[in-house]
Amino acid sequence: MSIAQAYNAWSDSYDTNENKTRDLDQQVTRETLERYDFQQVLELGCGTGKNTVYLLEKASVVTAVDFSEGMLAKAKAKINSPQITFLQADITRPWPSTIPAVDLITCNLTLEHIADLGFIFQQAGEKLIDEGLFFLCELHPFKQYLGSKARFDTENGVQELEVYQHHISEYLQKATAHEFELIELREWFDEGGTSEIPRLLSLVFRKSSLKKRS
Ligand SMILES: C[S@@+](CC[C@H](N)C(=O)[O-])C[C@H]1O[C@@H](n2cnc3c(N)ncnc32)[C@H](O)[C@@H]1O
Repeated sequence: MSIAQAYNAWSDSYDTNENKTRDLDQQVTRETLERYDFQQVLELGCGTGKNTVYLLEKASVVTAVDFSEGMLAKAKAKINSPQITFLQADITRPWPSTIPAVDLITCNLTLEHIADLGFIFQQAGEKLIDEGLFFLCELHPFKQYLGSKARFDTENGVQELEVYQHHISEYLQKATAHEFELIELREWFDEGGTSEIPRLLSLVFRKSSLKKRS
């Protein structure tokens, strides 16, 4: 099953299944982004719109992209606003030219499905204004090392999705290569569990306005 097909199948239960990663990500997104100002947002892999709702509370315009029509249908059912544009697109291919320049790009729990992080940073650099922010929140690589991955229950058992492992150093190297600077890196634990391994990794990068000397 392709990743998009898997999310189509998952879309009916994505919001209601028990899912600690989804719930912690929602908390991390709010806690992180409340400290930043932004107006035009591009959300990559918006899914059922769990975080889109919050982005719309702060921004004047949000473009929310996903390649799963099932996930997008859930998001559209949840959100009715003149400020939102939903786009069905695969972010591993050149991003649609209709996406406007933005001052914030967000990407939550999506990069584990993307092999080439460099392409994502390159495209993000084209859509962001200078000094614009790129916020990422992903399943922590330590969790991945121990076998955690996106999966959901079906009538026929557990469906696992195709995933790629990204080390923290890879995020930092790919960001630097595309002229982003790291503003913050945080690790997030299950409630009361700081002695356990972290569940999520969040990163905020800023697009540099200074081009590197060649
Ligand atoms: C785990 S869900 C996360 C959804 C939402 N960001 C959230 O935090 O609840 C991952 C989402 O990424 C989308 N996705 C994965 N790979 C993608 C790709 N190459 N292009 C566009 N969307 C993609 C999936 O369809 C799915 O909706």
